[in-house]
Amino acid sequence: MPELSVLISQEDVQNRVHELASQLDIDYMGKDLILLGVLKGSVHFLSDLSRAMKSDTTIDFIQASSYGNGQSSSGVVQIRKDHDVNIEGRHVLIVEDIIDSGLTVKHLKELLSARKPASIKCISLLSKPDARLHDVRPDYLGFDIPDSFVVGYGLDSAEKYRSLPFIAELTV
Ligand code: IMP
Ligand code: MG
Repeated sequence: MPELSVLISQEDVQNRVHELASQLDIDYMGKDLILLGVLKGSVHFLSDLSRAMKSDTTIDFIQASSYGNGQSSSGVVQIRKDHDVNIEGRHVLIVEDIIDSGLTVKHLKELLSARKPASIKCISLLSKPDARLHDVRPDYLGFDIPDSFVVGYGLDSAEKYRSLPFIAELTV
């Protein structure tokens, strides 16, 4: 049976989300901001983040799947659901659950840049710097974590554990 060991408590997650929301309120003050969540892992983060912000934002979603061999920097990202709103001339913030190899965010930034947003940045709740294969850094980050498999607060293992309110390591 897999075991869960809490890595980041519910309280620590919520405190950090509120800090990030305050920073975004300052940095995007008076700007037309689109929070673009990457399905499905970002849903709880985006939901809490947007409600903790004082500014009004537009919310949209994109879904991507990546196929790579994990050993090299090659890999293919397929868009399974594109965003609905027009992003041209608007400020876009990609909202991710976790940056692991960096492939997904690298690809999304390239794809979306071609659609001429006013700016394109990325916020990720989690990052595994030791797992990086592509040189991408989140513009806003919740927590750096070790290179181990984590679940909860949107992150899954075969669609399980997404609704846990904390982040846990999954140990077999
Ligand atoms: P990438 O390697 O940076 O492209 O990350 C791709 C995706 O893999 C992330 O958006 C997550 O959905 C998923 N992922 C990476 N690490 C973990 C993990 O530890 N737990 C659950 N999902 C993960
Ligand atoms: Mg994801």
